[in-house]
Amino acid sequence: MTSVDVLILGASGYGGGELLRWLSSHPAVKTLRGTARSHAGKPFHAQHPNLRGLVAGTFEAAPDWAALAQSEAPVLIAALPHGEFGKQWPEIEATLKEHGLADRLTIIDLSADFRLDPAWVYGLVDWQPERMQGVRRIANPGCFATALQLALLPLAAWRPAFVAVTAATGSSGSGATPSDTTHHPTRANDFRAYKVLGHQHEAEVLRTLAAAGWEAPLSFVPQSAPMVRGIFATAQFPLPAGIDTAALKAHFEAFYQGRFFVRIVDGTPRVAATTGSAFADIAVVAKGNHGVVLVALDNLGKGMAAQAVQNLNLALGLPEWTGLRFGSGWPV
Ligand SMILES: NC(=O)c1ccc[n+]([C@@H]2O[C@H](COP(=O)([O-])OP(=O)(O)OC[C@H]3O[C@@H](n4cnc5c(N)ncnc54)[C@H](OP(=O)(O)O)[C@@H]3O)[C@@H](O)[C@H]2O)c1
Repeated sequence: MTSVDVLILGASGYGGGELLRWLSSHPAVKTLRGTARSHAGKPFHAQHPNLRGLVAGTFEAAPDWAALAQSEAPVLIAALPHGEFGKQWPEIEATLKEHGLADRLTIIDLSADFRLDPAWVYGLVDWQPERMQGVRRIANPGCFATALQLALLPLAAWRPAFVAVTAATGSSGSGATPSDTTHHPTRANDFRAYKVLGHQHEAEVLRTLAAAGWEAPLSFVPQSAPMVRGIFATAQFPLPAGIDTAALKAHFEAFYQGRFFVRIVDGTPRVAATTGSAFADIAVVAKGNHGVVLVALDNLGKGMAAQAVQNLNLALGLPEWTGLRFGSGWPV
């Protein structure tokens, strides 16, 4: 098996911690290193107590490009705040050239910085996964964007005249640094909407649906839910007459045939059944000309780090589920 060495930029954040967790048991990964400015010199478990005894190593102040250049299969995963990797990219790109890494390094960016950039491949891995094979520049999708696209892509077959989506997210969606709107006491017993009809993930969703042949008239209302991790999305849309729940379910099963990490379930998907996993669970209901799709996933799992590992696997020619065949605990 290929011997993979991974460097994570921003390893002290929620995404960085999840990547360290997943990749520590990945059979192809030989070394794991990670940077973080404010925790440099401290062990990974100082910031991620769940990793104590599992993942050795310390946060480093800056990347060791020379060490990465020795790798048979070098991988860089950027888990930095929005805008930061894009800002650093010109300098990093020049450094990669100096170290002979420019063409060999597989890069996965978790931020939105390159998601609309045609020079990067958009890593919605459960849609046309063959796109990811051998790719060296991957823009990992947003967490809401992943849920919405998995819900809506199968609908492109009918191109509904209208689609309304509400989606609730947990507080970890905003990263490790608390703000007025994400701090636990201000949201633990609350439920609210935000960025109504104006969330930044709409652009990547609409672009994918357009590529699938549907200029979707999307109405998207994001919500802030009193949970730590998870996304629950509800899409409602008009359906052509004659499609009942069984037919809609069969359509989704056919669309996601062979996609191990997309599970079509009966009744309702449950956020807790996807927590800490690479799974997205989907249920559908149809009545008259009214269609509903429900999606649950973990914003830090399928919505971020686990999807990044799926992309890493495909980019390096490994089976997609390598290091990822775990379900959530139950109950969580
Ligand atoms: N959270 C989610 O559910 C989710 C889902 C999908 C995508 N994303 C995207 O993934 C990225 C990472 O998200 P996250 O939730 O892991 O964020 P986070 O918890 O806030 O972690 C950010 C990391 O970057 C480092 N960092 C912060 N400012 C920096 C700067 N100016 N320069 C260099 N390093 C800096 C932080 O450590 P130091 O400050 O110590 O350097 C930390 O290690 C974001 O772009 C986010 O939009 C997040």
